[in-house]
Amino acid sequence: MNTPSLEDIRQQFPSLKRKFNGYPIAYLDGPGGYQVPARVIDAIADYLVNMNANVGTEFDTAQRTSSMLQNAREIFADFFNCTWDEVIFGANMTTLNFFLAQTLCREMKTGDRVLITEIDHEANRGPWLQLTDRGILVDEVALDPVSCTLDMTDYQRKLDRKTKVVALNYASNGVGTISDVKKMIDMARDTGAYTVVDAVHYASHGPLDVQELKADFLLCSAYKFFGPHIGVLYGRKNVLEKLNPLNLRTQSKGPPYMMETGTLHHEGIAGAGAAVEFIADAGATLGGDFLEQSGKKNDSRRNRIVAGLRVFDQYEQGLCRYLLEELSQNIKGITIYGPPAGHPRTSTVSFTYQGVHPEQVAKYLGSKGIFVWAGHFYAIRLVERLGLSDQGGLIRVGITPYNTKSELDRLLEALDDGKSLKAYGQTIE
Ligand SMILES: Cc1ncc(COP(=O)(O)O)c(C=O)c1O
Repeated sequence: MNTPSLEDIRQQFPSLKRKFNGYPIAYLDGPGGYQVPARVIDAIADYLVNMNANVGTEFDTAQRTSSMLQNAREIFADFFNCTWDEVIFGANMTTLNFFLAQTLCREMKTGDRVLITEIDHEANRGPWLQLTDRGILVDEVALDPVSCTLDMTDYQRKLDRKTKVVALNYASNGVGTISDVKKMIDMARDTGAYTVVDAVHYASHGPLDVQELKADFLLCSAYKFFGPHIGVLYGRKNVLEKLNPLNLRTQSKGPPYMMETGTLHHEGIAGAGAAVEFIADAGATLGGDFLEQSGKKNDSRRNRIVAGLRVFDQYEQGLCRYLLEELSQNIKGITIYGPPAGHPRTSTVSFTYQGVHPEQVAKYLGSKGIFVWAGHFYAIRLVERLGLSDQGGLIRVGITPYNTKSELDRLLEALDDGKSLKAYGQTIE
């Protein structure tokens, strides 16, 4: 019998067989959205064929839909390390966060403060910045543009008793920096502020543990970890119980339903549950070492999820080191933006290419079937602080468990061909 490997995992992704311009597609756009394994597609189709109904009535498909939703909440409870009634489903992270900001605003008064960060995606800035219309003061924790990390002294200085909410970033979708959210949450808890963590980028790179973090709220999006386009919010039960969100009289008042308006995206939720099960199965088949090291058994789904994410991260970090080394040592004209060596990071690598606009680099690579992003990726403030807004931002390569070293070699070879790249691109004056 062959030892199971990540190559077996790759085989589970139908989209990886696609070609573009005759090239096999190298999907290096993971931070923008992941490819999905067949079981996620099957779960969505199975829902639509065998369960498709609204909830709240007696016939078979309605009952089956309710059970599916409950099962998905239990799966996500294992994903977050919380209880099922702390799992809230929604359209996407941004919509959930808007609703959360409006809900927490009802607990605040004029002159209260919200702290956001310069490293965050706009989805964890805009919903809070809009509260200034209601007399709430919003301040930002500064980014150190050299190390691409948050300035903890600035955080300490800005955190005070008037701060009612701290909106934090677990990992940067722009440059891959992982922030010490545990420490930042501990500091915020001392002042009594609610803590909200954007874990959208982090969620595919390491296990989430809301109990360890002691976060009040944490958000992620299933399409960033092998699932379909839905968002998921963790809300601490004893906090949810105190809140008074906008509500319809048709709506159940208790957690978690109080934060869910209208009919949910049932098939998306079925697919999201299957995405987490996919991670758990990778943990069961490939995560033996991690389970052993932590003294945990693969008899609990939570342990399998943690092991699966550790296996993925270990693989990605190896490829990330290779890419960073090759880019910095062997490709001319590259400037890498990201945390210093040794600082916790995800396998997301961003850079500029001297004299060629990032969009043109991405177009050139795209023509060779190498799909990467260019621009600000909605981490607009970060790109402004890096001084790159008027130069088209960054080129971003995301490494996922289904990417391979040979895909990175194709990328490096294309980047190394400066002549074709420049001929393809429009040069910056
Ligand atoms: C770090 C981060 N936060 C938030 C979002 C927004 O998520 P959604 O598209 O689910 O609203 C994204 C999407 O790119 C992201 O990368």
